[in-house]
Amino acid sequence: MKNNKISGSICWESPSNIALVKYWGKKGRQLPRNPSVSMSLKNSITRTKLDYEPKKIGDQLSFLFEGKREVSFENRIVKWFDRLANEFDFLSDFTFFISSENTFPHSTGIASSASAMSSLALCLCSLEEEVLGVHKDESEFFQKASRIARLGSGSASRSVYGGFAAWGKTNSFSKSSDEFAVSCSKQVNPVFQDFQDAILLVSSEKKEVSSTVGHQLMENHPYAEARYAQANDNFENLLDILRSGDLNAFIEILENEALSLHGLMMNSSPSFTLMKPNTLELIDRIRSYRKTHNVPLGFTLDAGPNIHLLFPKLEKKRVLPFIESELVPLLENGKYILDEAGSGPKKIKK
Ligand code: DP6
Repeated sequence: MKNNKISGSICWESPSNIALVKYWGKKGRQLPRNPSVSMSLKNSITRTKLDYEPKKIGDQLSFLFEGKREVSFENRIVKWFDRLANEFDFLSDFTFFISSENTFPHSTGIASSASAMSSLALCLCSLEEEVLGVHKDESEFFQKASRIARLGSGSASRSVYGGFAAWGKTNSFSKSSDEFAVSCSKQVNPVFQDFQDAILLVSSEKKEVSSTVGHQLMENHPYAEARYAQANDNFENLLDILRSGDLNAFIEILENEALSLHGLMMNSSPSFTLMKPNTLELIDRIRSYRKTHNVPLGFTLDAGPNIHLLFPKLEKKRVLPFIESELVPLLENGKYILDEAGSGPKKIKK
């Protein structure tokens, strides 16, 4: 196929997500070792613009992040596009100029590859529709976008949906697949639909271990099989809890997942401790506030020191003063970002 007359521009916004049951360990072609489930955020978003024109000899893809060339991410995109050649046979006909910006600051522990890769995957799926002149139905479109996003970054597969999304095959969820994520928002109790996520910034230092390297640590990990069994149990139980709205049970799984992830990193070879002293102090204060005030709030962590504090919207009046008085003094420059469950990606009209 030759598309040497088409040029244009496509733009999508897509959110970051916070995993409740973690994806940690992969196999084959970017497939997960266990099912994971996440909540997509509302304010932590990447907006990506894909400009394309007919390819001329010597043309190369370029990537700008917030107006500046980002060579390492550009290389990651080039490799990803190479892997996508048999998904989109038009890719080699075009030169791409990609630019993206985030609504959230760098190195905050907000997963920027999830929002970046999912927004670009959505741009590619829209481009496919333009090139072929056919429109997929909505569920097919987002399923393909999720699969394409997954090939760029596993957690990005979940960001093409708003609310809650599950990725990874499991017998407990018939629609589930290793190839793409599926939405599980329909089954979710109203208490979770506007759930809050206060992202507490303990340190903005560059991550000590990339998640790609982190996943590799699971390959010869002595606890790998036990971890995958635990993740499957947590996944199955969490889906029931998301339906029932049992907040105590939710918090128990949430924190168990976060600390299991960090435990696995601490006893990996080589070993990493990504929590900082203030991460532990914050965990202590969160747990003791929960106990003494009987407020249903719980924490989770990604592969870094910052804490995501999750709680129902109707507890905001109690939780925000607690964050301000007891947690802010432990945060880097006193900073935290208040986010919440969001409604998913949006195509930006020209
Ligand atoms: C701890 O999706 O960033 O955030 O597939 O190599 O890009 P790659 O890894 P990535 O890993 C995410 C790990 C995690 C847990 C999660 O989001 O499920």
